[in-house]
Amino acid sequence: MGAAVAFAAVRRGYSVLLVSRTESKLQQVADSIRELHPGAQISVSATDILDPHSVRALDAALATDREVDFVQSAGLSAVSYEIADANPYRRVEDIPPNLPSLEFDVVVRGLLNVVQTFLPRWEQQSETRLVVVGSMSGIRAYPLGYAHASAKAGLHHAVRSLALELCKRRIYVSEVNPGAVNTGFYDGVEVQAAVRLISKEFGYDYTGKEFPQAPPLEIGELAVQCLIADAHVLTINAVAKGQFPHQGG
Ligand SMILES: NC(=O)c1ccc[n+]([C@@H]2O[C@H](COP(=O)([O-])OP(=O)(O)OC[C@H]3O[C@@H](n4cnc5c(N)ncnc54)[C@H](OP(=O)(O)O)[C@@H]3O)[C@@H](O)[C@H]2O)c1
Repeated sequence: MGAAVAFAAVRRGYSVLLVSRTESKLQQVADSIRELHPGAQISVSATDILDPHSVRALDAALATDREVDFVQSAGLSAVSYEIADANPYRRVEDIPPNLPSLEFDVVVRGLLNVVQTFLPRWEQQSETRLVVVGSMSGIRAYPLGYAHASAKAGLHHAVRSLALELCKRRIYVSEVNPGAVNTGFYDGVEVQAAVRLISKEFGYDYTGKEFPQAPPLEIGELAVQCLIADAHVLTINAVAKGQFPHQGG
């Protein structure tokens, strides 16, 4: 999703710094974006947002004469961390004991490190946008969601709390909560089986059909809308057409 946000931001003329732990992956993303936009201002930084030293080094390396907004779309994808069958949607008896806190840690503690480190810079800026790509999993519960939905619900309230606390300092915090997005996350057999089962609980039977997923660039564009809107966008909830659109618990 980060690649899609970066692409959408480059199209709007932003100078983009891509951040994750793996420099080689970031370089690949940057190269693909440069191929499509030869003039793109895009660079990379291998940073672990769970490591305060690493985030401080990122901040220290950034120019002080430019304003910095931040979009967080880090997460616990199957390729980043070991999850059995690459599937976080599991029956409660099959949830590894460390999974709920691991999922929560990456998104909530990672965001805290970023905010605590960048706050002095942001307070000096004329205004700041902080956009967090959360998930519809944080907005509504579903079966098989003990770890994933609880972590994303925690993130949702962390972001809501930040929005209330930081707006008085001209730091405008937004969240974009997608349903399923076609990033490869749903390609695995186990994940497909689980999400089809969950969908049935809400009366959506995709047997013999494609499971609806939003194109990543759609979500990238929504995140960039939060950066450029005159309004303080609080929350955007978006599911692919055809996915169950319920928002309640
Ligand atoms: N894909 C979907 O369908 C979907 C739907 C709804 C919500 N979401 C949520 O939206 C967010 C973005 O989605 P996604 O599919 O792009 O997520 P993702 O694949 O889980 O993670 C995105 C990136 O986060 C980086 N990352 C993980 N831990 C990190 C750390 N400690 N420090 C720095 N970077 C770290 C990973 O790169 P490295 O491993 O190289 O660090 C990875 O490239 C996630 O929170 C996800 O749960 C996804």
